Amino acid sequence: MLLCTVLSRMIRILPEDVRCRLRSGIAVTSVSQCVEELLLNSADAQATCIAIRVDLEIFRVQVVDNGCGLGPEDMDRVGLRYFTSKCHSLKDLEDLRFYGFRGEAIASLADVCSVVEIFSKHKPTGTTFTRLFQNGKPLPVQLAEVTRPSAGTTVTLYNLFYNLPVRRGRVDPVLEMERIRHKVEAASLMKPTISFSLKNDALHSMVLQLPKTRDVCSRFCQIYGPVKSKYLREVHHTQDRLEIVGFISSEGHYNKSMQFLYVNSRLVLKTRLHKLIDFLLKKESVICRPKASQVGHTSPGFHRPLTH
Ligand SMILES: Nc1ncnc2c1ncn2[C@@H]1O[C@H](COP(=O)(O)OP(=O)(O)OP(=O)(O)O)[C@@H](O)[C@H]1O
Ligand SMILES: [Mg+2]
Repeated sequence: MLLCTVLSRMIRILPEDVRCRLRSGIAVTSVSQCVEELLLNSADAQATCIAIRVDLEIFRVQVVDNGCGLGPEDMDRVGLRYFTSKCHSLKDLEDLRFYGFRGEAIASLADVCSVVEIFSKHKPTGTTFTRLFQNGKPLPVQLAEVTRPSAGTTVTLYNLFYNLPVRRGRVDPVLEMERIRHKVEAASLMKPTISFSLKNDALHSMVLQLPKTRDVCSRFCQIYGPVKSKYLREVHHTQDRLEIVGFISSEGHYNKSMQFLYVNSRLVLKTRLHKLIDFLLKKESVICRPKASQVGHTSPGFHRPLTH
């Protein structure tokens, strides 16, 4: 009995499938994050048009792009953990030219979906291939029976979080669709020359339609309208290797839903930087200071939209 106890406490390596499941559960935590990973892949593939469809009743997500597509060799490797076309050395990490760099997103998605389908037409060869992942296991690459009319990639996630029932049970369809919309808007502000659409397949309704435009200001105007964008003022500051660019509105807004902060073009949420910016804006801002006549009955501090 004593021997059994000692043996069961021995340090042993976790089997590969357990490791992958645990890691994937941490790597993809929400439907909105899955959407973000796929659309960043499309942006990395030089797509100029990205269409997203989400059905939160059956947990299906589809992202269609018109990017460079995947050739036969890449189709063999896509979705294998740590396989990436975007980063090959420590030096590459210091100068990231793409959003992706870990070679993990699709492998992690495959672990938390009952099926992932990749359907891709490679620009240079014009051939359409398809590959399925079933319960995290990659199946052989097939030449597609139906060819895509133009180059690009369609990734479909079926039955997302089927093996994480608690995570699935906590998804509120209305709130999650809002989070997805927010992620798509945030990505679209960084990539104004890409057109984006987001469709709610469960309700058969279009949530967002953003044709390609020239710059971040016109994208902001597309999303929030001309009244809000009228008050945007450009911010530009450089110090040593640090450069801050963006827009701050001279008009207040009652919450932070229009506050977007990016570090190296990547959206960041709830960081110390946010706290610092909020603090400085509250302290310095004329709009946050109560007018002399209002002293004594002021509303809570306003927050200005910020893109960087
Ligand atoms: N939409 C797409 N179009 C063309 N190639 C794609 C697309 N999505 C993925 N790929 C290819 O598959 C590879 C693996 O994608 P994956 O998202 O798993 O990793 P990554 O983007 O390299 O890094 P990260 O895990 O940080 O996102 C990519 O490096 C890219 O070469
Ligand atoms: Mg990626």
